[in-house]
Amino acid sequence: MALPILCGSFSLHPVSTGAAMHNAGYRALGLDWHYVPFAVTNIAEAVDAMRTLGLRGAGISYPFKESVMPLLDAIDDDAATMGAVNTIVNTDGHLVGYNTDWIGGARALQEATTLRNKRVLVLGAGGAARAVATGLSREGAVLTIVNRTYEKAQALASAVHARAAYLDAVDLDAIDIVVNATSVGMSGVSDALPLDPSRLSANHIAMDIVYKPLRTPWLLAASARGATIIGGERMLLHQAAAQFALYTRREAPLAAMAAALTSLQ
Ligand code: ATR
Repeated sequence: MALPILCGSFSLHPVSTGAAMHNAGYRALGLDWHYVPFAVTNIAEAVDAMRTLGLRGAGISYPFKESVMPLLDAIDDDAATMGAVNTIVNTDGHLVGYNTDWIGGARALQEATTLRNKRVLVLGAGGAARAVATGLSREGAVLTIVNRTYEKAQALASAVHARAAYLDAVDLDAIDIVVNATSVGMSGVSDALPLDPSRLSANHIAMDIVYKPLRTPWLLAASARGATIIGGERMLLHQAAAQFALYTRREAPLAAMAAALTSLQ
């Protein structure tokens, strides 16, 4: 009799979103697979446990995306370029690190638009902004990066062939898409707005990486200005779908995974 297959996530502060999406995906495909979020303080021991217990896959979250890299047998080229791993695939004890974060932002936007030559303003220059900017740059978007700490915007811009700017100096008429990749708007963190919504119009697409709340104050204000809005849950969904495909070698059942995510809200 075939044994059930286990996947999981390693994080200092586990959340239930990954488990909800992946388990819904397994059920939708009739797979006897199970996904468990693990609270981890020592990533080296968790990776050892993954080998010992034969976990097929593990999602890697804060704060282990960089420190996990030297513990693996191989790193996929994209993850190496990003300098971060958010996904480990275990094939008969051989552990390979991948990064699906950069895929999520691009696919979420591609539900609404093409990206080639689109002018995108990225707000933020942290890890999430780096993933979004990498994905959009690869799809041929033309990026402008602004950040509270300007030097970080400059560093990210030079890494992804973009330009850094000061927010007040950006002409929003020359921008097609604005992505909030800061934590501004996250419930419990800040209810400020990352960009004055009066600068947006019906010609803009506004996307947020924040998914709690599902509709941030900034997205609601952008929608009131007539902009097309895309919530952070679409990015989360698409990065999980890419993980799902790596683990199972099957196409992810997006609708079932999305329904599980929204039912958590
Ligand atoms: P993550 O990995 O989620 O991107 P991070 O690396 O800590 O987290 O980055 C958080 C981003 O949100 C940064 O761009 C940060 O700006 P700084 O680089 O200046 O710190 C931005 N950010 C967080 N709080 C902010 C605030 N109140 N106003 C403007 N930007 C903010």
